[in-house]
Amino acid sequence: MKIEGSVALVTGANRGLGRAFVDGLLARGAAMVYAGARIPSAMAGVPAVPVALDITQPSDVAKAAARCTDVTLLINNAGIMLRSPMLADGSAEAMRREMDVNVFGTLDMVRCFAPVLAANGGGAIVNVLSVLSWVTSPALATYSASKHAELAVTDAARIQLKAQGTQVLGVYAGFIDTDMVAGLDGAKTTPVEVVARTLEGVDAGLDHVLAGERAHHVWATRRENPAALEAGMQAAWDAAAAANWRDLHPETP
Ligand SMILES: NC(=O)c1ccc[n+]([C@@H]2O[C@H](COP(=O)([O-])OP(=O)(O)OC[C@H]3O[C@@H](n4cnc5c(N)ncnc54)[C@H](OP(=O)(O)O)[C@@H]3O)[C@@H](O)[C@H]2O)c1
Repeated sequence: MKIEGSVALVTGANRGLGRAFVDGLLARGAAMVYAGARIPSAMAGVPAVPVALDITQPSDVAKAAARCTDVTLLINNAGIMLRSPMLADGSAEAMRREMDVNVFGTLDMVRCFAPVLAANGGGAIVNVLSVLSWVTSPALATYSASKHAELAVTDAARIQLKAQGTQVLGVYAGFIDTDMVAGLDGAKTTPVEVVARTLEGVDAGLDHVLAGERAHHVWATRRENPAALEAGMQAAWDAAAAANWRDLHPETP
């Protein structure tokens, strides 16, 4: 579908990648953008229509779908990352919270907006996934589990919504320079670049967008040398564990 003339709704639009989506959509000629935010007053001054939307609240999602009946492009961007290893204290609670937002919140948005998109000719859904939908970072393990599950939601929705003409596009990125990964080391793609690649993908009718160099690298390595990816994750974990051990035992030479 084409961005120009579209009516878009972006979740988590108040900051980070979501805010960049609002700007990118308007710059590319979207007719209107609904900006979903848990605190809509955070959208003051933004040239978009604020919508109170906590995607974990079914009543918010239902109200948004009942109000925004002209939406042709849904961007499921809202997400959380709690930086929990799988066997850390509190990991089950972290994973439940991440699943609640990243998986069940996204699923609820897809379910409630699918009839809206059908009524408007099919349209498109963008789900913001991650390279951690393909591989598991040991330090971000519960988040990785939620992004794996969100990929399954995305793939299943694409199959099920094909008959109504809805394009369902998954976006895969490595680190993006937002609050979510503040303080984490590593190369970061700009939100502007992720948005540009994504909106080009929507215009081109794609199902998958690799948004940035890191995503291309992980995708290629996963196909050509998956053992290297696993070894890299193990090495990263071992190095972090060793550093942590030295912090706890400063007397060690
Ligand atoms: N940053 C990265 O390295 C990276 C990499 C790959 C994929 N992603 C994905 O990109 C998306 C955007 O992340 P970001 O980097 O922009 O993160 P961010 O800067 O932390 O922003 C997250 C956004 O999601 C919103 N949000 C959180 N829980 C919500 C809920 N229950 N209902 C509605 N909105 C909610 C936040 O709203 P509040 O301001 O109210 O908290 C905020 O607007 C996420 O899906 C993330 O998983 C990020």
